[in-house]
Amino acid sequence: MAKEKLIIFDTTMRDGEQSPGAAMSKDEKLRIARQLERMHVDVIEAGFPNSSPGDFEAVQAVARAIKDSTICGLARANEADVRRCGEAVRVAARPRLHTFIATSPIHMEKKLRMEPTQVVDQAVRAIRWASEYTNDIEFSPEDAGRSDIDFLCRIIEAAIKAGATTINVPDTVGYTLPEQFGGLIHTLRERIPNADKAVWSVHCHNDLGLAVANSLAAVMQGARQVECTINGLGERAGNASLEEIVMAVRTRQDIFNCDTNIDATQIVPASKLVSGITGYPVQPNKAVVGANAFSHESGIHQDGVLKHRETYEIMSAESVGWTHNRLTLGKLSGRNAFKSRLQELGIQLDSEEALNAAFKRFKDLADKKREIFDEDLQALITEEVIEQADSEHWRLISLTAHSETGELPYAKLVVAEGGQEHTTEAQGSGPVDAAFKALEALAKSGASLLLYSVNNITSGTDSQGEVTVRLSKEDRIVNGQGADTDIVVASAKAYINALNKLQSNIKRVNPQLQ
Ligand code: KIV
Ligand code: ZN
Repeated sequence: MAKEKLIIFDTTMRDGEQSPGAAMSKDEKLRIARQLERMHVDVIEAGFPNSSPGDFEAVQAVARAIKDSTICGLARANEADVRRCGEAVRVAARPRLHTFIATSPIHMEKKLRMEPTQVVDQAVRAIRWASEYTNDIEFSPEDAGRSDIDFLCRIIEAAIKAGATTINVPDTVGYTLPEQFGGLIHTLRERIPNADKAVWSVHCHNDLGLAVANSLAAVMQGARQVECTINGLGERAGNASLEEIVMAVRTRQDIFNCDTNIDATQIVPASKLVSGITGYPVQPNKAVVGANAFSHESGIHQDGVLKHRETYEIMSAESVGWTHNRLTLGKLSGRNAFKSRLQELGIQLDSEEALNAAFKRFKDLADKKREIFDEDLQALITEEVIEQADSEHWRLISLTAHSETGELPYAKLVVAEGGQEHTTEAQGSGPVDAAFKALEALAKSGASLLLYSVNNITSGTDSQGEVTVRLSKEDRIVNGQGADTDIVVASAKAYINALNKLQSNIKRVNPQLQ
């Protein structure tokens, strides 16, 4: 019998963006969206258009660029949000509007300060406004996992009657257990008279590490859309991870009577792209996309795998894209080869100048590093985009660092601020610490360093190091990224990128905290 389709709804650019410091620019969203389209993701939630003019533009740009996936925007159940979202997504080949309102007693009383009847009326009104823009409307009763079942039945029935075509059941705070969450979907589908008029979707958070298990339990009970994110990025402990959902369903086709359309060989490239853009590294032991997910340390395992792969592997590294990072270019590669590889990776640069600047950057890297991989190209473009950003206030011109056993490490940097060059220097407990102290002495940002992390982009000691610096100041948290074969330089670039993000006064509204 033909399998039913499980719709994959990616919310990396909306819920994932609600992770501290993970805000993405329009160009970054476009790059991620193209990769998701290449992976055959069915629905891409591109953002929350009423959060800022920048996000409106980003969602609209994604809606214009992407042809094969449905493009969705999020709106709270109020007229301003719904209309702004409608304007952003209506240009898409397939637009979807996702509206939500909280339904748990604690959210209705403490956050919304509304009576249950008012909440139902507001949801119905929002769906009617949404229907002026598209007939693909998704409704979510936020915090469904802690809502009263009778009230959920009431509001969902009204939402479907008003025109919602997808009902998404969120476990907003990651509180439920798999049996319970599966049971919730079962009961809702059984009790709501018009349940068969909508697609059932789930959206699980990972606070207890159960987001994937809860989502799969719901799929067993008839949910046919799963909301998930690349690398499990998302609010707090994150959302269900796309790669785990897709590979669990695919690997256990003996259990599931549905499958996805996802081209799984695009999973690892997507994971690396999202990690590079957001500055959220992937833990090595992460399922499917972690660096160790397919490596075997123990001799017994290695022997077993060499004799017969399936002794210890339930899926192959190739099937999820681990071998996609083939050697692409080298020192002798020309501009055309560079340009066509960028095109194959779905990277479009706006102008000839941008292409020339990126090509120069590629040649500089090829002088330092013999083999250039796709990941290097992605990092190089991330850097180019960062440097071209209008918001750039500080720019690294040069850096000298000195470290020697028995001596206090020292760093001296030349940094441009607008057109003016400044020299700054400091000592520190290591060359990176010295560089950060020197930059702080110049910029006087007063920000606190929340996180510093270094990862190699490819393997080998000649690999580029990709550095993330998370700074917080007052109510803002930003992530800065930098890449270079010299990790002190990469670190300084990342710190400067974070300082520039703090300078640009972009404020985003979190849709769930208002
Ligand atoms: O977690 C949640 O409830 C959400 C909704 C907006 C769907 O992200
Ligand atoms: Zn969420």
